[in-house]
Amino acid sequence: MNVLVIGNGGREHAILLALKKSKRVEKLYCMKGNAGTAEIAENVNVDYMDTEAVKEYVSAHPEIDYIVVAPDDPLAAGLVDELEAMGKRCFGPNKAAAVIESSKAYAKELMKKYKIPTAESETFESYEKALEYVRKKGAPIVLKADGLALGKGVLVCETLQQAEAGLKEIMLNKAFGTAGNKIVIEECMRGLKYTPGEEVSVLAFTDGKTIVPMITSCDHKRANDGDKGLNTGGMGTFSPCPFWTEKLEKQVMKTIMIPTMKALNAEGRKFKGCLYFGLMRTDKGMKVVEYNSRFGDPETQVVLPMLKTDLLDVFEAVTEEKLSDVKIEWEGGACVCVVLASGGYPESYEKGKEIEIGDIGDATLIHAGTAIKDNKLVTNGGRVLGVVAKGKDIEEARSKAYSAAENISWENMHYRKDIGIKYREG
Ligand code: AMP
Ligand code: GLY
Repeated sequence: MNVLVIGNGGREHAILLALKKSKRVEKLYCMKGNAGTAEIAENVNVDYMDTEAVKEYVSAHPEIDYIVVAPDDPLAAGLVDELEAMGKRCFGPNKAAAVIESSKAYAKELMKKYKIPTAESETFESYEKALEYVRKKGAPIVLKADGLALGKGVLVCETLQQAEAGLKEIMLNKAFGTAGNKIVIEECMRGLKYTPGEEVSVLAFTDGKTIVPMITSCDHKRANDGDKGLNTGGMGTFSPCPFWTEKLEKQVMKTIMIPTMKALNAEGRKFKGCLYFGLMRTDKGMKVVEYNSRFGDPETQVVLPMLKTDLLDVFEAVTEEKLSDVKIEWEGGACVCVVLASGGYPESYEKGKEIEIGDIGDATLIHAGTAIKDNKLVTNGGRVLGVVAKGKDIEEARSKAYSAAENISWENMHYRKDIGIKYREG
């Protein structure tokens, strides 16, 4: 089969690497891709947000049998609906189902209606009413722009002053554009050991009938060590989550995952694809922080390398609604991904820096923002590379990933030194 993966980043490179292992895959394509995806796939220089251009390309390439739509924005825009209408088989939810990520207000409403545990919240379209509510509730409090905002539309406010300033930024100054036309205001959840609580990402395959959680992972969203600095798209991940247990998985399946799948079905929004549960262990049990309608980035970089089953088999089973027929198996041990970023990210940074790569042992480089210029590998984004290593446990995987990272360099390269050590005590 010939498979096209839509997206440019580390997540897409990780999906392509997993698909490459499939005996049934003949040729891979990536739209638009990066220097890493070009090594294993044909990069297609078409803007995936230009639906007409994507359709034109797909019509002109009937040899493409299957299409994976990986990023949130084309899913929210309904690219899967358009491609399916052309008779193409796809992995990814349709527009109606993708709303679980593209509107936080919708996701909260759904959880309220179906009693899925999450932080208490109210949604506002009026700045004055939102301000009144914030003053009534006091700090700490969490503000969330309703729409897609590159993972940056959430403010955890420690003080009332911060919350009032944040509200102004989102609703009046439109810091996240139209994503801030509506705002969700939430209680700040406390954890068993920390505030905010301990977080775990659970990606799950679902065909709307069956839902199968993958191995768990933990992300590091802040730019600097000790969870300091600005929120980013993710500075590193590790798998599995240290506090996850079989008992917890059973409980989460019963209280969160199955109820979410059923709720979406009941609302006429059957979800087929990868449903991402951002969960928090709180002093009142496991709760949903957010849903994503897609594979996480950089979670995918530590989850898919551990998959033993053929990924294309799983994808097709989701499309055919036969997921219950597939046995999905995982390797034991652990996996760590350290993201190497451009100096300055997530604020302004320079591109086009030449990347030097020395001995990386048995680690794998997952490309995010890279390109080839004058036959040289150069930086082409904020998050540039993910250094992924496996080990018998997180400690071993961590040490391999960091040994490899030390042998990679470019001007002003920046990475966190503490990926994989949180929640160590379980
Ligand atoms: P989100 O984009 O919704 O995942 O939020 C980004 C981050 O903000 C999460 O990963 C949490 O660390 C934090 N966060 C979001 N909602 C809450 C909440 N209600 N209580 C505490 N922390 C939160
Ligand atoms: N790593 C978080 C996300 O993909 O949204």
